[in-house]
Amino acid sequence: MSEHEMDVIAVVNGKGGVGKTTLARALGSAVVGGGMRVAFIDSDPQLSVVEWAERSKEAGLWSTAASVVAVESPAEMAQQINDLYEREAADVVIIDTAGVTFSALGSIVAASDHIVMPCTPNVDDVSRTLKTAEMLKELGQDGAHITFVLNRVGSNLTRIEDEQIARLEQHHAVAPVRMRERDIYKRMAKEGLLSSVLKQKVDEGTIRSLAEARRVREALMETVELLNIVMGLEE
Ligand SMILES: Nc1ncnc2c1ncn2[C@@H]1O[C@H](COP(=O)(O)OP(=O)(O)OP(=O)(O)O)[C@@H](O)[C@H]1O
Ligand SMILES: [Mg+2]
Repeated sequence: MSEHEMDVIAVVNGKGGVGKTTLARALGSAVVGGGMRVAFIDSDPQLSVVEWAERSKEAGLWSTAASVVAVESPAEMAQQINDLYEREAADVVIIDTAGVTFSALGSIVAASDHIVMPCTPNVDDVSRTLKTAEMLKELGQDGAHITFVLNRVGSNLTRIEDEQIARLEQHHAVAPVRMRERDIYKRMAKEGLLSSVLKQKVDEGTIRSLAEARRVREALMETVELLNIVMGLEE
C-alpha cells in the first residue's frame, strides 16, 4: 500500500461560464509554483484543459511538474486517480468538470477530497450555484470540504455582491480570498501555466516584461492563497 499523500480537488458548478476551467488552470499553476506536481483530469468533453496543455507545451509555457489526462466516464476517472496514486505521480489532482448532472456529481464527490465551486456573485449565477449545492446535499455531503470561490470581482464588493455572498454562506464556506477580474486569467488560456509565464517574463528582463511579470505574480499569489484555503491549510 502506498504511503503517498495526494489531494484531489474537483472544480464543480452546474452553471456554465462561471470560471471552472479558469480556476482549475490557476490552481494547477499554484501547485507548480509551490514546487509540487499537479495532474489535471479533464472530464469536460470540450477538452479545454487538454487543449490548453497542448498550446502551452508548444509555447514552452508548460512544466515537467504538470500532466493532463482526459476521461470519458466516472469509471475512467476513478481508474486514473488510482493510477496516479499508485505511481506516486502527482501531489495534487485537479479535476475540471463540465456542467455536471446529478449522476456525474456522485462519482466526482466520491473521488474528491475537496470540492471547490467558483461563482460569479450575481443573483442568477448564485441561484444556479445553490442548485448544485443542493444536489451535493442530497448526495449526503456534510459540507466539510466544499468551498465557494467568488470569481470576477473587483477590489471592492458592491452591495449586491455582498448580498450574494450572504446567500452562499448559508450553505458552505466562502473563501475569504477571491479571484479578481484579471486580464492575465484570460491570457493564461492562450499562454500557459501562470508559474511558467511568470518565469518567462522575468527571464525576458525588459521593462515591459517585468511590469507584466508583476501582474502575473499578483494573480499567482492570489491562487496560491486560494489553493491553501481549498486544501484546508489556511482559514
Ligand atoms: N477572474 C477572471 N478574470 C477574467 N476573465 C475571467 C475570469 N474568470 C473567468 N474568466 C473568463 O470567463 C470565461 C468563462 O470562464 P471559464 O471557461 O473558466 O468558465 P467555465 O465555468 O469553465 O465554463 P464552461 O461551463 O463552459 O466549462 C472565459 O473566457 C474566461 O477567460
Ligand atoms: Mg470549463
